[in-house]
Amino acid sequence: MLKIAVIGCTGRMGQLVLREINQNPNVDVSGALTRSGSPFVDQDVGTLIGEAPLNIAITDAPEKAFHDADVVIDFSRPETINISLHEILNQQKPYVICVTGLTDNQKASLEKASQKIPVLIAPNTSLGIALLKKLAVLAAEKLGSSYDVSILEMHHRHKSDAPSGTSLSIAQALATVDHLKENAPPYPSRSPRPTNTIECAVLRGGSITGDHSVIFAGEKDVITIEHRTLDRTLFAQGAIKAAQWLFAKPPGLYSMDDVAGISL
Ligand SMILES: NC(=O)c1ccc[n+]([C@@H]2O[C@H](COP(=O)([O-])OP(=O)(O)OC[C@H]3O[C@@H](n4cnc5c(N)ncnc54)[C@H](OP(=O)(O)O)[C@@H]3O)[C@@H](O)[C@H]2O)c1
Repeated sequence: MLKIAVIGCTGRMGQLVLREINQNPNVDVSGALTRSGSPFVDQDVGTLIGEAPLNIAITDAPEKAFHDADVVIDFSRPETINISLHEILNQQKPYVICVTGLTDNQKASLEKASQKIPVLIAPNTSLGIALLKKLAVLAAEKLGSSYDVSILEMHHRHKSDAPSGTSLSIAQALATVDHLKENAPPYPSRSPRPTNTIECAVLRGGSITGDHSVIFAGEKDVITIEHRTLDRTLFAQGAIKAAQWLFAKPPGLYSMDDVAGISL
């Protein structure tokens, strides 16, 4: 049985992951970390998710939260990464980082850590997005520079980063294609539009879970590849799949493309 610790356990995604782990016969919760001063500290994890007590107390101490874990899943916030990473490295735990909006410095720290532990950076844990990226790269290669490439995303009104980590990862995949190689984030919209660029447009509103479209606009037709998330448990289940995949992997930097068996 794979034992998983969850960082950001009291948040929207953290609670969902705990529920999914609890319902999955192949994995167990071994620890749950929240911020210090949280009113949830010392509450039982089972009570938090509306189930029978699991005899695991929510803690604000990373060393305690990770102690019994085989893998750590992080759905907290970018500003907490460095504190958690320090202890994850101390304890040599595989790390699935699902937080978005990471700074370049944080990404560099994760890359450095991946020389010592397995690190999987997953701004979107749905396998459908891994497939969308693959299809978008194929379309960009086949259609060439006569089609303008744009990424359009919409998320709920509470999302704190923009463009989404998923949009940026789609853009990074597209920027491996020859005629789009000169591109760099943040991929703003420009008018008149230069050729061979990637643009990202962002919409926020309501409770939309996460919609991403890659649009190839030509002179005579438009091709759209779209992914719509209908239920956030998709992300929770994807994070658990990623944890199961990452366990026992050698140190290195991995992505959901590896979990999905898709190489770009
Ligand atoms: N990879 C994916 O597929 C995917 C899918 C959805 C969301 N996300 C990303 O996952 C992250 C979390 O999303 P969310 O919607 O669940 O946000 P959220 O509801 O704000 O949850 C974040 C949680 O982290 C807690 N936290 C703050 N400081 C902490 C610390 N030092 N240690 C441990 N926990 C701490 C917060 O506690 P307090 O509320 O008490 O401050 C909060 O409960 C975001 O970056 C989001 O973009 C990724």
